[in-house]
Amino acid sequence: MTTEPLLLRAHRLDDRVAVVTGAGSGIGRATAQVLAAAGALVVCADIDGPAARRTAAGIGGSAAALDVADRAAVFALLETTAAEHGRLDILCNIAGIIRTGLVVDVQEADLDAVLGVNFKGTFHACQCAARIMSAQGGGSIVNTASGAIDSATPEIMSYSVSKAAVVQLTRNLAAEVGRYGVRVNAVAPGLVRTAMTARHYLLPDGSVDQAARAAAEKPLRRMSPLGLIGDPEDIAHAVHYLVSDAARFVTGQILRPNGGVAMPW
Ligand SMILES: NC(=O)c1ccc[n+]([C@@H]2O[C@H](COP(=O)([O-])OP(=O)(O)OC[C@H]3O[C@@H](n4cnc5c(N)ncnc54)[C@H](O)[C@@H]3O)[C@@H](O)[C@H]2O)c1
Repeated sequence: MTTEPLLLRAHRLDDRVAVVTGAGSGIGRATAQVLAAAGALVVCADIDGPAARRTAAGIGGSAAALDVADRAAVFALLETTAAEHGRLDILCNIAGIIRTGLVVDVQEADLDAVLGVNFKGTFHACQCAARIMSAQGGGSIVNTASGAIDSATPEIMSYSVSKAAVVQLTRNLAAEVGRYGVRVNAVAPGLVRTAMTARHYLLPDGSVDQAARAAAEKPLRRMSPLGLIGDPEDIAHAVHYLVSDAARFVTGQILRPNGGVAMPW
């Protein structure tokens, strides 16, 4: 017997039922694509319904328009998915937003919006999925933090706080549901080229200002021993590992796919 079937088996997700939030764009879209390529049945959820449908159409999955900040809607989607398929094996909480501003200028509405999507949205989905997965005797959840948890980057306090809260939620939940066979981990990506980060260098006509992009990426590129900026697939493969049986012994962990950047603060 070769070792290949063994290796493949640990990474296959055949017939596993997965929900991916933020699947309409960037890291969420790439994750939905990678999980589907590994055999999972993927429900692509995003507040941008047409974008979720485009991702789903490309991978033979299904789509749902979902605002993760809407607790009732999150519960409805996860419970319906579990009822339709008989189980819910994988949840990837990837939807996220960012608002910038100095701490002294942050508006309460912006703080609420960021915490509402990034932290409470993740919390709602974790709570519902953890109940379903605990009852069925297993499952895997991956949340999305950020390199911002390791730094004091100016002007993104609300975002950084929301992601630090996601880390603690991940660790607490992992400690509580491990006994039911449920694993809970997070990724903390470094800088990745997506719509979220393109705001630094996109011109009004949608084209890329190459000089602005190089300037925005330069500090992170210099901090990376690899000299790399991430693509969405780099994070998707890390998520895939965490949800697969290859990570059977891994829970409560924060995986940092970030080109080796060690934050200075
Ligand atoms: N791009 C990076 O450098 C980077 C770094 C670290 C962490 N992250 C995190 O990765 C995740 C994905 O970000 P991305 O870079 O792919 O950004 P993106 O803007 O390309 O994708 C975010 C997706 O989330 C969806 N979304 C936003 N609000 C939502 C809501 N209320 N309900 C459901 N869906 C919602 C958007 O419609 C979009 O499709 C986010 O949580 C982000 O904070 C990104």
